Amino acid sequence: MSVILAVESSCDETSVSIVKNRNILSNVIASQIKLHEQYGGVVPELASRQHLEMVNPCIDKALEDSGLSWNQIDAIAATVTPGLVGSLIVGVTAAKTLAMVHNKPFLGVHHLEGHIYASYLNDPDLEPPFLCLLVSGGHTSLIHVKDSGIYKNIGSTRDDAVGEAFDKVARLLNLPYPGGPVIDKLAKEGNPEAFKLPEGRVSLPNNQGFHPYDSSFSGLKTAMLRLITKLKEEEGDNLPIADLCASFQFTIAKALTKRTIRACLDLNLRKIAVGGGVAANSGLRQHLQQEANKYNLQVFFPPLTLCTDNAAMIACAACDHFNHGFRSSLSLGVASRMNIEEAKKMYYSS
Ligand code: KG4
Ligand code: ZN
Repeated sequence: MSVILAVESSCDETSVSIVKNRNILSNVIASQIKLHEQYGGVVPELASRQHLEMVNPCIDKALEDSGLSWNQIDAIAATVTPGLVGSLIVGVTAAKTLAMVHNKPFLGVHHLEGHIYASYLNDPDLEPPFLCLLVSGGHTSLIHVKDSGIYKNIGSTRDDAVGEAFDKVARLLNLPYPGGPVIDKLAKEGNPEAFKLPEGRVSLPNNQGFHPYDSSFSGLKTAMLRLITKLKEEEGDNLPIADLCASFQFTIAKALTKRTIRACLDLNLRKIAVGGGVAANSGLRQHLQQEANKYNLQVFFPPLTLCTDNAAMIACAACDHFNHGFRSSLSLGVASRMNIEEAKKMYYSS
């Protein structure tokens, strides 16, 4: 049993958590949503300044909540990629400093690995191989988790990430940021079949049909814009908001579910873990579960608080790597982008 303290600061949440294998001992999350709301999206410079403000109080609170002392912590981890560079630097510098001061090993974690491990925190029995549907504000990927730390990216979005599509469509509807939770709430009152919208299939070259696992959400966003403009012309500002939200959400749920089930069956896998902020979406959860049941596939959804960014998932990933004897160098730098298949490069065997 190893105990890891991790710092997550890749976007607009400063979070520090202490995890013992798959048990959360503390998970402090300082959200910056209020700060960025007025701009309709994350402002990178404001984000890094706010991380700087919050990182030390979050570390203190996480340690206090866990009831542990520094000598009971085995290693310190931080998200090093992908994310906003200025924001990542704050969390990584804090974590490396703690590692040096307390003489502990340091582990750098890939943020998307964290989203995959969020499902481990909820289920002590989840082990690879499985398929992960990773849906967040920055990513939409289908990842074949072959073994601990061994990933194959088999499908991505060609344009907007799915969370980004939720946020942009919310803006078209004059709804607040972040759009996902608001659309999810309004969709509950609406008819998901009210409007027919495109599921964003990606064509293969030379008329060879459609890519089975890749997705595209810009066409759906444009269709929503056209539909909203047309409805406004016909009926004024009194838009059928709930029906629009329900139809948009259902289209996304169908598009993601179709690709996920197909990939799972093609790869002969039986388990699907869903991660990222959009994994909180009730329409997606319901539709994916219902379709998976038809094929006897098991679906793992993290609890809602672990779907969006948090340090517990980062600590859980680091813990698994630590238990497998991996460590990172203190000279490991941050990176705004890195393919998850490269994540292993951040470690050496101790
Ligand atoms: O994983 P996350 O916290 O940050 C990234 O790594 O991107 O995901 C944030 C995204 C936002 O786009 C937000 O609108 C979306 O997740 N989101 C949702 C829901 N809750 C958060 N989207 C749809 N339904 C939700 N319930
Ligand atoms: Zn994330």
